[in-house]
Amino acid sequence: MQDNNTVQIASDYKVFDQCKTSDEIKVPEYLQDTYWWAYLHPTSVQIFERQWLVNLILWGNFARLRDAALDELGETIEGNNLQVACVYGDFSQQVSNRLKSDSELHIVDIAPVQLENVQRKLPGQDNIHIHQQDSTALHFEDEQFDNVIVFFLLHEQPETVRAKTVAEAMRVVKPGGKVVFLDYHKPHPANPFRYIMVPILTILEPFAMGVWNKEIIDWVPAGLRPKKMTKETLFGGLYQKVIMTR
Ligand SMILES: C[S@@+](CC[C@H](N)C(=O)[O-])C[C@H]1O[C@@H](n2cnc3c(N)ncnc32)[C@H](O)[C@@H]1O
Repeated sequence: MQDNNTVQIASDYKVFDQCKTSDEIKVPEYLQDTYWWAYLHPTSVQIFERQWLVNLILWGNFARLRDAALDELGETIEGNNLQVACVYGDFSQQVSNRLKSDSELHIVDIAPVQLENVQRKLPGQDNIHIHQQDSTALHFEDEQFDNVIVFFLLHEQPETVRAKTVAEAMRVVKPGGKVVFLDYHKPHPANPFRYIMVPILTILEPFAMGVWNKEIIDWVPAGLRPKKMTKETLFGGLYQKVIMTR
């Protein structure tokens, strides 16, 4: 049975919660213009939904980065958890494998094709809820989640959008809860990827240098500053894991 807040996205998929209809939620211009080939076109899922390919894009580090994020939440993930944006590969399945049966995972994304894809990857799990929402204007209450994960989303957003995403992640996490950011970072001068990645990111991911040149904490608004923050870099500084405890 459907209520007014849910929509059937395709006959063979479960229902996902939609706080607004898809007509009201607009795919942002930056996503349409820059990343249509990666996330919006129906064939993008057919092309990119391969573990080996997402691993290659991260220079063989996918599992290491995924586990670095998930280990922050524990071997068993408890409470109310939010994943901001879908991720190709087995990221969400691994979250769900660790999820305690009486705990919840909410996954938001703005692109219907991505929501359908993640729904396919996580069939029949009643404690997983999939929502069409914009990371810059989440429809959740303040302080609702024990953990929020933002995995390789910030570098794909223009700076003003990125700042709103960071603020929203901090807004919806409970006091004492964690926001886990994994993303690109400016590598150490001796790391060859510091030079290899510049043309790749500049051409394919034009907003990515923004996360090389500023700290994620710089996008947290004054009223939502974390009580505690840790930052670790990986793979010679090409990647960063930043944990903010509200
Ligand atoms: C998490 S990021 C990149 C993840 C990683 N590169 C991968 O391998 O999938 C990609 C996702 O972010 C989503 N996204 C981008 N901007 C968004 C926004 N403003 N709100 C919600 N989702 C967004 C895209 O639709 C896409 O599914």
